[in-house]
Amino acid sequence: MASKSLPIFAALLLLQAVSRISARGIPTPMATGTAAPTGEINGISIFATAVAEEDRMTTPSARMYDEEPSVRAENIYTGPTQNLLEQLLEGYSMDLRPGIGGPPVDIDVGFAVQSIDQVSEINMEYTMTMMLSQSWIDPRLAFNSSSVSEIPLAGATAEKIWIPDTFILNDKKSFKHTVTAHNRLLRLSSDGKVLYNVRITTTAECKMRLKKFPLDTQTCTLELGSYGYANRDVAYHWRTDQEPVRGMTDVELAKYSIVRFDTLTGNVTRDTGDYSSLRMTFKMERNFIYFMIRTFFPCVLVVVLSWVSFFVHHDAVPARVGLGITTVLTMQTLMSGVNASLPQNAEIKAIDVYLLGCYVFVFGALLEYALAHNLYRGTKAAALKAATAPVAPEGGGKHGKKKGKGSSCSENGAASGQSQAAAAAVLAKLSTGNSSVAECHPVFRAIFDDATDVDRHARWLFPVAFALLNVVYYVVYYYLPENDIASLFTQY
Ligand SMILES: *[C@@H]1O[C@H](CO)[C@@H](O)[C@H](O)[C@H]1NC(C)=O
Ligand SMILES: *[C@@H]1O[C@H](CO)[C@@H](O)[C@H](O)[C@H]1NC(C)=O
Repeated sequence: MASKSLPIFAALLLLQAVSRISARGIPTPMATGTAAPTGEINGISIFATAVAEEDRMTTPSARMYDEEPSVRAENIYTGPTQNLLEQLLEGYSMDLRPGIGGPPVDIDVGFAVQSIDQVSEINMEYTMTMMLSQSWIDPRLAFNSSSVSEIPLAGATAEKIWIPDTFILNDKKSFKHTVTAHNRLLRLSSDGKVLYNVRITTTAECKMRLKKFPLDTQTCTLELGSYGYANRDVAYHWRTDQEPVRGMTDVELAKYSIVRFDTLTGNVTRDTGDYSSLRMTFKMERNFIYFMIRTFFPCVLVVVLSWVSFFVHHDAVPARVGLGITTVLTMQTLMSGVNASLPQNAEIKAIDVYLLGCYVFVFGALLEYALAHNLYRGTKAAALKAATAPVAPEGGGKHGKKKGKGSSCSENGAASGQSQAAAAAVLAKLSTGNSSVAECHPVFRAIFDDATDVDRHARWLFPVAFALLNVVYYVVYYYLPENDIASLFTQY
């Protein structure tokens, strides 16, 4: 044995050595890189800074002062606009909201949803990428120009005007996209209207009710508001010039389909005052088919598999116990697999009930065998005891005839094969009569009839009960009132 495995071991060692040498000899792209990767996010941010720096060097305003006057022909366009901007921002304070002291500044909000991914039950959150648009009128920025009616702003100037401190009330973590430059748009109209658009990805909290999981629907929200300006300073509205929330119907989710969404406007009271806020609510229906394939169907198959035991002879102890225990363990695995993706709270979910039902059935099949086997052993002992007593010769003849007619006696003989033959041999040896008498002795028949009775009844009782469980389960959970947060759609 050792001499056989030695060459294989040597070959493995050699292979390892060769692979080590080749790894050292042929430089991998990682090894030739100029800088060790310290982290992807760091890398991106460094890169982004470098780009921004480069941009600043090549902006028209920077070029204007660097280049010769003769090549500045284009400045007949940039010149007036630049003067205009300088005029606009002269004495402008970005710290003060437009029209301070007067009525609140109205901010029109709308967004285009690009994707919703990772709806997580375990963390009760979802991740959404969107382009958020806000527009408001800043009278200080109204201008009068014959050359331009709209000024798109970028870079440092964009940082110099007032923008609302909008935040997402229920977010856990959000970020703005910065590749290749800040995904941001700022447009100034002649009437002082400012359009501000950013692309953000937000992971927002969504309180889920999982009582009906996976036959449930979930309602999630996205709430926007100002962090620092109370509703006497800033008032949010959904935009009216077009659909305030776009792209919601195009969202593709693996486990859900979005059935409806709504937009609401309201005031929220925080400990620092009353704030104007906006809420977008959407309702998602879980795609049951996903769980049908992943959980329910395997569960049903395991239960059906446990019924195979009823068709195996009760004398085959290792076969039936092995089958029983394997199915119980498989159920255990299925249950832990499902629970790994769900929050571990005390709420009893619909899937827990179903899995527990399957578990009980699989466990019941194992217990049924214990019962069948025990009854068989009990009757066998009784039979052996009875068989040792003298048997009337005419009785043997009578039952011998019955066997010939193909009664349950011969049926059993055909079905149970070897083990029955062995039992018959024992009985024959013990009995005072001949072997043919013993084989169809009433007590002998009782052994098999009694034992298989448990199995025979289990064969129909278990499937019927399981079918009943399924029907009751789906009816109950289908009609169970959804623990819906309906108030999210109405009251605000
Ligand atoms: C803009 O210019 C026109 C004509 O030059 C003038 O009538 C108007 O009052 C100006 N508007 C503002 C806001 O300065
Ligand atoms: C929010 O409060 C402000 C100030 O009290 C009020 O003018 C406004 O109508 C309220 N908005 C809603 C939607 O109730």
